[in-house]
Amino acid sequence: MVTPFRPEPFTDFTNEQQQLEYKQALLHVQQQLGKDYELIIDGERIRTENKIVSINPANTDQVIGVVAKADVALAEKAIQTAAKTFESWKSVAPEQRARYLFKAAAILRRRKHEFSAWLTVEAGKSWPEADADTAEAIDFMEYYARQMLRLAERQPLTRLAGEDNELYYIPLGVGIVIPPWNFPLAIMVGMTTAALVAGNTVVLKPASATPIIAAKFMEVLEEAGVPAGVVNYLPGQGSEIGDYLVDHPLTRFISFTGSREVGLRIHERAAKVQSGQKWMKRFIAEMGGKDAIVVDKEADLELAAQGIVTSAFGFSGQKCSACSRAIIHQDVYDQVLDRVTALTEQLTVGDPQDPTFYTGPVIDQQAYQKTLDYIEIGKKEGVLVTGGKRGDGPGYFIQPTVFSDVHPKARIMQEEIFGPVVAFTKARDFDHALEIANQTEYGLTGSVYSTNRVHLEKARESFHTGNLYFNRKCTGAIVGVHPFGGFNMSGTNSKAGGPDYLSLFTQAKLVSERL
Ligand code: NAD
Ligand code: ALA
Repeated sequence: MVTPFRPEPFTDFTNEQQQLEYKQALLHVQQQLGKDYELIIDGERIRTENKIVSINPANTDQVIGVVAKADVALAEKAIQTAAKTFESWKSVAPEQRARYLFKAAAILRRRKHEFSAWLTVEAGKSWPEADADTAEAIDFMEYYARQMLRLAERQPLTRLAGEDNELYYIPLGVGIVIPPWNFPLAIMVGMTTAALVAGNTVVLKPASATPIIAAKFMEVLEEAGVPAGVVNYLPGQGSEIGDYLVDHPLTRFISFTGSREVGLRIHERAAKVQSGQKWMKRFIAEMGGKDAIVVDKEADLELAAQGIVTSAFGFSGQKCSACSRAIIHQDVYDQVLDRVTALTEQLTVGDPQDPTFYTGPVIDQQAYQKTLDYIEIGKKEGVLVTGGKRGDGPGYFIQPTVFSDVHPKARIMQEEIFGPVVAFTKARDFDHALEIANQTEYGLTGSVYSTNRVHLEKARESFHTGNLYFNRKCTGAIVGVHPFGGFNMSGTNSKAGGPDYLSLFTQAKLVSERL
């Protein structure tokens, strides 16, 4: 009997024992830095001549690890292996597949701080952000295992006299799993384990900035006893092997989380039927956001200011759910802007191994330059209120940055920056605020701060985002509590961590027997 799903609690870092354990985990991880990692196909560890070097974004001289880099020949081998393994894995009972996930979740729970420490050094996550990432990874496995058990139950159908009818959910086949670097454990684990628990086999191409954390997770799957060839670990450049994996005729589905640009490219390529291909490829995509927080004139303004700051600057704004637009009723605009500015100026930026810093670096040189470029654009499009500069230290540090008086159609109001930048704009009234909120091509998350019930109901109906929050921040969705996924250019609205997610990795078969 499986207990009902409960989200993994976050670590209380005010507890001295927890602080000590996290420091020990960081020490342990520091002793492992710089090692070599092979790619894994059919359980076999394979070295390559070409490598991906993963570096610490908070200290760019520090190598986190050196990973084998797949070429097209290895991509072919991984797909062939996944196709061969599918023939046996698809027949493993759903209950057994679920047990692998329960076991893997238990292992990850035991090694929780160790994994979070890897997130701190490889992705630049602060202690609480890393802890939340690891907790979410555990949650995904616990939740999808239970969802598989639910899906495997006999589905209710209308009965007809003289017939026995049954509906089954069967797996699809070989899936290419392409996760992003910003939740390098949680999203990678969720996408991979949903696919495998549903009976599919996987070629996992981790994000190039964070391949080590994925290699460590492969250890967890191996320890949990997941058979060789079910998940094949294939680090490589998206630009070098991405198209090959997507185009391959044996690829049955692609599960992608990342940018709009790459997502649309995959969408288009996956639609083309290749020679020898017997199916229409399924495409599951979670893409970018340009998320807004709306503050009404009747609202708890302190709560709203705190919500904007946390949503905009947690993990340096590198969440698809991050608030990058603050849309404020004109009557309270100055008040909210002043308070957000004051709170932002209290934030500290530095190496996230030191827990006194609120936030760490952006992920790499490209993200660093992109954010600085957008800050220059912002200076032309609005008023720089605070931040706008590089931070101190040997990493990709950028000060949390606030712009005011930005036009809703300005570039920094429309384009995903994915860094610590939030732009303020003034709304005439609540309807105007909602109109501005909907003026992007994305539709991932949004928040409304209001005490006016009529306004909240209006937002409920017309604020077009997949995840809409009232009187709370727009980040921090919890598995099973806030199924996550957006509208429009934010993706296919797959709702990770929700009751419908797993069915995306299956196909339904009806068997009708005349009695
Ligand atoms: P990205 O699109 O640059 O990369 C995502 C993945 O795609 C990486 O593994 C990358 O190696 C791979 N890739 C790159 N080119 C490819 C190609 N031609 N073919 C196949 N794969 C290829 O995104 P990113 O920088 O890793 O992540 C940030 C983006 O992800 C942001 O836009 C963010 O909003 C989005 N995101 C969305 C969600 C969500 O749930 N909606 C969650 C997290 C991140
Ligand atoms: N699921 C993550 C959040 O809600 C992206 O912040």
